[in-house]
Amino acid sequence: MDGPGRNDPCWCGSGKKYKKCHLVAEAAGAVAPPSPPRSAAPASLPASIAALLLGPEGREGMRVAGRFNARLMDFMRPHMVAGANTAHLDRLVHDYTRDHGAIPATLGYHGFPASCCISRNEVVCHGIPTGEVLLDGDIVNLDLTSIVDGWHGDQSETFLIGDVDAGSRALVQVAFDALHAGIAAARPGGAVIEIGRAISKLAHAHGFSVVRDYQGHGIGRVFHQEPGVPHFPDPELGSFVLWPGVCFTIEPMLNAGGYKTRLDKHDGWTVRTEDGKRSAQFEHTILMTERGPELLTQTEHGPVPGHRF
Ligand code: MF3
Ligand code: CO
Ligand code: CO
Repeated sequence: MDGPGRNDPCWCGSGKKYKKCHLVAEAAGAVAPPSPPRSAAPASLPASIAALLLGPEGREGMRVAGRFNARLMDFMRPHMVAGANTAHLDRLVHDYTRDHGAIPATLGYHGFPASCCISRNEVVCHGIPTGEVLLDGDIVNLDLTSIVDGWHGDQSETFLIGDVDAGSRALVQVAFDALHAGIAAARPGGAVIEIGRAISKLAHAHGFSVVRDYQGHGIGRVFHQEPGVPHFPDPELGSFVLWPGVCFTIEPMLNAGGYKTRLDKHDGWTVRTEDGKRSAQFEHTILMTERGPELLTQTEHGPVPGHRF
């Protein structure tokens, strides 16, 4: 399933259509898709894919946006405590962003009414910060996206509020480890499906499920663009090849119970687990380079791989 679509240029760089080149041999198991992967994109990519590949200026724009967004996360970190009011947290995000000349990307995005998403406990994603109070024992995801000089940085962390039960702590731990397993699986010239495979394997080994209704995404001057980055091995979207210059997020949502979600009918945004069990998520913005994935949203004070929650 790795590699280009039937009518796209073959991954081998021959310039022939994939179906006229390596497709048949691959399907018969005669050759494997490139491994180690090619590090340079072929000259003859479809224009829609070539347009996603950033050159030096675009890459630098994304680095600056990612760095700013990470600083915003570090600024918010000490405020993610029991007793914090989510409307107040949203105000802090808004004002810090504006005071630094950046734009909160979610505010007004398809009508979203706030400058960040705050998703507590059984809320999977897209929680609206409307004045709930964080309570001891909660697990709370803060998802921040800012626009700096037209470029987007997007990341999230799940915070443990006070004394959290061992099961929820394990869920947060595995969600964090799954994000980093996904990042480690992303290779220049590799396929998106490798990310979903790594994440699902880890999640299932710990008895957690992986949300399928929401996924990572390409990002740049546009908040959400190609490629879609499913966190499970999706044979369709998974065939997208991560050529150097492509920028995307990985943002696995792991559930303590089943993978199914339900959208709140009243606000049209809040996504909850169908069974009411808890969900945890971490997100980073990543640039694929010739040498491998570059993490654009690493914080100074947040968890790094190997961290124990
Ligand atoms: N930040 C979210 C993501 O990771 C998207 C939030 S869009 C909103 O893609 F409209 F819900 F805010
Ligand atoms: Co995102
Ligand atoms: Co996000």
